[in-house]
Amino acid sequence: MQILFAPLQGYTDFDFRNTHNAVYGHIDAYYTPFVRLESGGTFRPKDIKDISPERNTVPRLVPQLIASSHDEAVTIVTMLANQGYTEIDINMGCPHRLMTIRGKGAAILSSPEKVADVLSVTNDFPDITFTLKMRTGMENNDECLALAPIINASRLAHVTVHPRTGRQQYGDEADRDAFDRFAQACDKPLVFNGDLLTIDDIDAVTSRFPSLAGVMIGRGLLANPALAMEWRTGETLDDTRRRALLRRFVAELRTAYEARMQGESQLLMHLHPIWEYLYPEMAKRDRKRIVKSSKLAVYTRCVDEALR
Ligand SMILES: Cc1cc2nc3c(=O)[nH]c(=O)nc-3n(C[C@H](O)[C@H](O)[C@H](O)COP(=O)(O)O)c2cc1C
Repeated sequence: MQILFAPLQGYTDFDFRNTHNAVYGHIDAYYTPFVRLESGGTFRPKDIKDISPERNTVPRLVPQLIASSHDEAVTIVTMLANQGYTEIDINMGCPHRLMTIRGKGAAILSSPEKVADVLSVTNDFPDITFTLKMRTGMENNDECLALAPIINASRLAHVTVHPRTGRQQYGDEADRDAFDRFAQACDKPLVFNGDLLTIDDIDAVTSRFPSLAGVMIGRGLLANPALAMEWRTGETLDDTRRRALLRRFVAELRTAYEARMQGESQLLMHLHPIWEYLYPEMAKRDRKRIVKSSKLAVYTRCVDEALR
């Protein structure tokens, strides 16, 4: 059973992934936030930087693409293959309007013929292992059932399913019954994704779905970067050790960002987001002080106090 670190645009950039791996590890693969083609057919420099092999030190990194057509997918896969990647994930789950109005991400799930078109890219690159990350639908959870035959016929090593609709965005709970219905129809190895925040959550899905190929965790690892480590080792960290590791994690991440950021405000802009989720045990007031800090000295003092 693999533990996969979900892609989280705006949070899990290469410095974050490298630092997480160095401090906590116990992740079988890290996924990059999606790489997309701009309307002029170019790539965003930020995306290229994020996937560049020389900047990434995790043992297994899987870049992700988002596309609305076979041809667009071919262009992105070609670029990724030229960088040496042999494993690529395809996004059919992003619920954000910027993507869905272009027929990308979760929006594609309402159109079986478009899903088939994008997935046909897997036939063009026989040396590449493809995986799919999807929601259960855009409008309703049954859309995925109509897609199962297409997915079954595609060359996919596994399918990660986040059982929410695109419409739901991140509201309501991940629907494990919807995952179950899809699992009955899909014959690919499945990875469960959505709302796994604790060891008990991971245990609950792995016992309900014993044939899972893995779990993919996003926000649970942002909140507790030791979650995979604790699950794998069977050892729950006491608060002293938890805070010691967090101090090391935030210090090393800061050092990594300092090496490439220009000026205090750019550095703070990159440091603030992790505190939206990290260490849920901390007082709300302390979190607010960190996230609102506009001076590095204040940020440092607040973080030191919070993790003392
Ligand atoms: C801020 C944010 C950014 C995300 N970026 C991506 C992304 O680039 N690619 C992707 O497939 N999913 C993305 N997701 C979805 C997550 O990978 C994951 O599917 C979702 O958060 C549910 O899992 P979780 O409850 O473990 O976080 C993003 C989610 C959030 C909250």
